[in-house]
Amino acid sequence: MKCSSTLKLILFGFICAFLASSCVKEGPMGPAGADGQDGADGSDGRDGVDGNVTCLVCHASENMELKKGEFAMSAHSVGAIAVDYAGGRASCAPCHSHEQFVQTMTVGFVAGDITNPSAWQCSTCHGLHKTFEGIDYALRSSDPIVANFDNEVTMDLNGNSNLCAVCHQSRTAPPVDEDQYDRNGALVDAADNGLYAITSTHYGPHHGAQSNVVYGTGFAEIEGDVAYPDAGTAKHLAQASCTGCHMAEFDMAEAQGGHSFIPSLTACNDCHGTNLDDFNYGGVRTEIENLLEEIRDQLIALDVVEYVEADEAYEPKTGAYPIIQVEAFFNWIGLEEDRSMGAHNPQYVKALLLNTKQALEEELLAHE
Ligand code: HEC
Ligand code: HEC
Ligand code: HEC
Ligand code: HEC
Ligand code: HEC
Ligand code: HEC
Repeated sequence: MKCSSTLKLILFGFICAFLASSCVKEGPMGPAGADGQDGADGSDGRDGVDGNVTCLVCHASENMELKKGEFAMSAHSVGAIAVDYAGGRASCAPCHSHEQFVQTMTVGFVAGDITNPSAWQCSTCHGLHKTFEGIDYALRSSDPIVANFDNEVTMDLNGNSNLCAVCHQSRTAPPVDEDQYDRNGALVDAADNGLYAITSTHYGPHHGAQSNVVYGTGFAEIEGDVAYPDAGTAKHLAQASCTGCHMAEFDMAEAQGGHSFIPSLTACNDCHGTNLDDFNYGGVRTEIENLLEEIRDQLIALDVVEYVEADEAYEPKTGAYPIIQVEAFFNWIGLEEDRSMGAHNPQYVKALLLNTKQALEEELLAHE
């Protein structure tokens, strides 16, 4: 139900007062106030009641407190590794600090490095209401996003999930077979010998390219036996997307979903009509884990990847390689760090990994 803008203003003022007082004691004695403008004497007030009921669906203090409890379970509310390490630097902070994310979403750019970055809070994601209607969550954005890895690609993650995609996306395009520098320093080898140089042990799409995986774009589509699905066509994108799995109704028993942002097993089971006790629907998770391990071992055999004791991690060795091996590395590290083990886009992930493995088998034969 639409209300006039005057009424909206009155409601806005009213709910502000309501919100301000609601922490003192219980609230719901407001509704009658909003209808004075009709001239009658305050017993009618239909519109006012509707408007306030709509506000209270979300603004009931119990609901907000519950969200806070759920949010305390989320890695976002700690921001430990991410904020400490990258939260102050202007090139990182738009995704790694509350302050610069809000700056970016409101003024469109960041002024510079910041001295005291903080972790996520309610107002990181929630800003100002626009329509005041039932589905207006006052989110900073829910518009499709221009991809960081390629500004000619627009990704529509489906409504509110576009907010997640602002941060959870790739920062680097897959290697391209022409003279090209990319942000992490990999480039086609200047020696013009057809090799592609990895110049940084941080080479890859960045730690959380989940939106690219869900949307089905931004990885190296190496040729092989398995056809790639078109970008933007995945069932999970259309039917669930980020919020459908990670913010499904909070499940008290499993402590998943809602503002914990932990994917909800109940959501998987409800939609698939199954009764599984893990995320391994159709055995896909096991299949992807095995493929990632096999490809890692192929990359080690080709001397592209090594285990670094000090970091307790598998990292690329800087050097120059045939482009196919760099593409394979890019896919491997990106899908490893996606961490959904296929759930984000089973068809796309399978196609990428099976074709990558096939190509590396040929490389290994040539290598022997
Ligand atoms: C669909 C859920 C929802 C509905 C409906 C809703 N709100 Fe909100 N509102 C929010 C959320 C979420 C926040 C951010 C909460 C926070 O920062 O603690 C918010 C914040 C606010 C704020 C403070 C932030 C700001 O500066 O805008 C006001 C004031 C507010 N809402 C008023 C209203 C009024 C008035 C209505 C009814 C006309 C309404 N809201 C309906 C979810 C809702
Ligand atoms: C486009 C947004 C974006 C930008 C820009 C960005 N990051 Fe990140 N970064 C993320 C996201 C999202 C994650 C978390 C992914 C996850 O948990 O799967 C992350 C994770 C990390 C992690 C791993 C933290 C952990 O929990 O293991 C490090 C380290 C990191 N980023 C460093 C940086 C640095 C340094 C920069 C700047 C040079 C930077 N990031 C720029 C989005 C970004
Ligand atoms: C990382 C981003 C993010 C943060 C931080 C966040 N929210 Fe939300 N919130 C969302 C999104 C996205 C939705 C819409 C979910 C959907 O579409 O199903 C939402 C929805 C809501 C709603 C309306 C839905 C409902 O069930 O009532 C309320 C109220 C709300 N948030 C309150 C809060 C509060 C309070 C906090 C802080 C404790 C908070 N949010 C922190 C992203 C966030
Ligand atoms: C402002 C940028 C930003 C936004 C918006 C954002 N995230 Fe994150 N998210 C991050 C970063 C950075 C981390 C890593 C935090 C850390 O480990 O310190 C993270 C962590 C996570 C994690 C936990 C990963 C772990 O290690 O446990 C999940 C799950 C997640 N985000 C999902 C979402 C979803 C779903 C949305 C949208 C509703 C969303 N995020 C919105 C930046 C963001
Ligand atoms: C089909 C359901 C589904 C959809 C859609 C989905 N996720 Fe996930 N996500 C998962 C599952 C399952 C995992 C693996 C969780 C685990 O292993 O504990 C996961 C893992 C993650 C992680 C790493 C969390 C961790 O604890 O390691 C992040 C971050 C994340 N997803 C963000 C997103 C974002 C952002 C989107 C939207 C672009 C999204 N997800 C869409 C189900 C989903
Ligand atoms: C809102 C609906 C919905 C939700 C929620 C959902 N899925 Fe799906 N999922 C589908 C549809 C539709 C398909 C394609 C048809 C099929 O294979 O059942 C699918 C297919 C899959 C596949 C591919 C199966 C195969 O053999 O190729 C996997 C794996 C999967 N889902 C895992 C998950 C996991 C894990 C979750 C929860 C974190 C989840 N899904 C949540 C709708 C959903």
